[in-house]
Amino acid sequence: MSILRPGLFKDKVALVTGGATGIGRAITQELLSLDCKVVIASRKEERLHAAIQELCPNSPRLTAQVCNIRHEDQVKHLVSSMLKEHGKIDFLVNNGGGQFPSPVADMSVKGWNAVIDTNLTGTFIMCREVYRQWMCDHGGVIVNIIADMFRGFPMMAHSGAARAAVGNLTKSLSVEWAQNGVRINAVAPGSSIYSPTAASNYSDPDLFNRARAGIPMKRLGTTQEVSSAVCFLLSPGASFITGETLKVDGGSSLYSYLMWQIPEHDKLPAYSWTYKKPDTDEDDPPKAKL
Ligand SMILES: NC(=O)c1ccc[n+]([C@@H]2O[C@H](COP(=O)([O-])OP(=O)(O)OC[C@H]3O[C@@H](n4cnc5c(N)ncnc54)[C@H](OP(=O)(O)O)[C@@H]3O)[C@@H](O)[C@H]2O)c1
Repeated sequence: MSILRPGLFKDKVALVTGGATGIGRAITQELLSLDCKVVIASRKEERLHAAIQELCPNSPRLTAQVCNIRHEDQVKHLVSSMLKEHGKIDFLVNNGGGQFPSPVADMSVKGWNAVIDTNLTGTFIMCREVYRQWMCDHGGVIVNIIADMFRGFPMMAHSGAARAAVGNLTKSLSVEWAQNGVRINAVAPGSSIYSPTAASNYSDPDLFNRARAGIPMKRLGTTQEVSSAVCFLLSPGASFITGETLKVDGGSSLYSYLMWQIPEHDKLPAYSWTYKKPDTDEDDPPKAKL
């Protein structure tokens, strides 16, 4: 299941947002396989319960709590009740998030704010609350899931702005919280990690298949390939890595982006100008500047 040593995370406790589905579910599975205790949290109770039944039924090693990461009071309650239940939080994986495709021109402020609130503010609240209630005094490791937005994110500009901000937040926190023994990194999956829930978020059934064209490896990534990067960053193998973003994208961030086609146009002509020699006074030639 994991390339990491069995039992590596024995006695560790992890909080994974969005841990019942897709990438988060693979992270939950890998952590469980390494003997970690895991708490999964997201908005939909039925998803959380289904994951427990499927992954680790009737065991205190996997528990769940309903929490919308956009709501500060719910996050405070999640963290405090997890500390009551397990006595500590060694790992936080901020994976819960989402967006809807739209050109910026068609976005309402409400839609924009919803995506920023979930992906940026929700991640901020989670980090801050886990830090305040536990990691400030005891250290820990945080991994933030972001996205391949390094060359902009047309059709997902709200999410691109939020994920870039989380990448930067990750850098700031790696410096602010190093003295508290906290390491924090980000993982940026390409827009190509198929899972049934990820696909169901979009009305275009061919979206993931079309993404293949922009991936040098010419295949989609798996949720397990993201999980193994997350578990590496949580592990002692990454003990000197902080403030970094690890791309898991089959090279797509380095290859041309095919989701936004630009038709031929001449709307941005070059500025045209001609050079005119400056007038100079022959008796007083300009001195060369050092
Ligand atoms: N799949 C990809 O190609 C890809 C690429 C780049 C980045 N990502 C990012 O990776 C993360 C996981 O995505 P996925 O592909 O695994 O899709 P997914 O299965 O839809 O996972 C998203 C998870 O986030 C949870 N969530 C959403 N809003 C939340 C909120 N306000 N509070 C708490 N939990 C919330 C959802 O659970 P509930 O509905 O129960 O709340 C769900 O479990 C997301 O942040 C996604 O944007 C995915």
